[in-house]
Amino acid sequence: LYIGVDLGTSAVKLILMNADGTIVNTVSKEYPLYFPNPGWSEQRPEDWWEQVVQGMKELISNNDHNQIAGISFGGQMHGLVILDSEDQVIRPAILWNDGRTGKQTNFLNEVIGKDKLSSYTANIAFAGFTAPKLLWVMENEPDHFSKISKIMLPKDYIAYKLSGVHSTDYSDASGMLLMDVKNKCWSKEMLAICSITQEQMPKLFESYEVVGNLKPDVAAMLGLNASCKVVAGAGDNAAAAVGTGTVGDGRCNISLGTSGTIFISSKEFGVDENNALHAFAHADGHYHLMGCMLSAASCNKWWMDGIIGTKDYQKEQADIQELGENNVYFLPYLMGERSPHNNPDARGTFIGMTMDTTRADMTQAVLEGVAFAIRDSLEVAKSLGIQLQRTKICGGGAKSLLWKQIIANVLNLKVDVIESEEGPALGSAMLAAVACKEYASVEEAAKSIVKVIDTIEPSPELVEKYEEKYSKFKKIYPSVKELF
Ligand code: XUL
Repeated sequence: LYIGVDLGTSAVKLILMNADGTIVNTVSKEYPLYFPNPGWSEQRPEDWWEQVVQGMKELISNNDHNQIAGISFGGQMHGLVILDSEDQVIRPAILWNDGRTGKQTNFLNEVIGKDKLSSYTANIAFAGFTAPKLLWVMENEPDHFSKISKIMLPKDYIAYKLSGVHSTDYSDASGMLLMDVKNKCWSKEMLAICSITQEQMPKLFESYEVVGNLKPDVAAMLGLNASCKVVAGAGDNAAAAVGTGTVGDGRCNISLGTSGTIFISSKEFGVDENNALHAFAHADGHYHLMGCMLSAASCNKWWMDGIIGTKDYQKEQADIQELGENNVYFLPYLMGERSPHNNPDARGTFIGMTMDTTRADMTQAVLEGVAFAIRDSLEVAKSLGIQLQRTKICGGGAKSLLWKQIIANVLNLKVDVIESEEGPALGSAMLAAVACKEYASVEEAAKSIVKVIDTIEPSPELVEKYEEKYSKFKKIYPSVKELF
């Protein structure tokens, strides 16, 4: 048996998986998200740990604990976790969707320079990446900065609490802007720019490598065997790609979670010259390109729960009359935007309403706005010569058939639906199974475990209508960005 831990932004999802990929049990535990200032986003690593422990106990309560051979992770990326020399968390984690580092991001991109950053790391600076956050702490909280003994990413904090090993993996470390992605090592230049040393950084592993065993006291507390392996795991997008079989060359996965991502796997290392897509390592030992929008399913949640006040998303979406006919547009930049605009100050906008506009039109505009924003990243991929015919899909938003149809038609891609919706949690359990030698490689595990159960085909008529809508959508951000 293997445990996969998906340390998300709204909750941790845990799954228990058999060696053959059958899911035996799943548990989800929520924790709070804090917005202490507009555009800031924080969580307490201690809350993650508490919920992981509770969740894990529930997950395995009806199973033979001695059979659990490995645990691995998919974690929200980029978050800065800092510990002092006593292993205490110095300040709350600054998350991937936090926009406070505008000044530090500009310093990196404009003063150090995008070309240099790209040659050191394969990427430029985005507000959510880890390096600008370190600079922010140095500048604004010098006492905290001087206490830093260990720097880690969210899931690595959990691996550290379980194993006592200060580790990370190449896919997640790619998003720190501190790693040379091509050569898979820490960048000496970036560490120097951020005034940190290699000793403060975790040891790098492939996602499917064992970092250590459970600490005996933790094993006893969880009721697990101390020989249970702790496996490096991956950033949640790379883990989701494993869980949807998006490994090898030229495969695509779209994740409609709190963030929205389009993930394109590649056997070869490649950089996006436009600096809009991230060039990161993949959990299968190779590489990927990824566009990330900061608010995807969270736009729908904001609209449904917060504005119209319903939990019944399906009923609300059932009032949508027709696809391709909506004249209302929505810019989904509720937390600023990463790909492709790289603007933490961008904001959400509805545009195009008339006296006839209904609530359903606006609900539809939210779903379509997210799809158009993902299309923005797909367009960048196309400009690099990447041609895609199909994509997998996962994340909470992918539960909606209507949203999947909109994605298929706006992107003109066949959308393959996977048997298991557990993307990152399943992918992390699969990484644990590979590390424990159940499968020869991540690709082998994906081949035998991941099953496509349905495909949503785009319709030529709708694709044409959405093409026209997208050409209008593209013009909105440039015309309103000066207002933000
Ligand atoms: C990816 C990113 C988000 C988080 C969400 O670059 O920032 O997808 O990983 O958990």
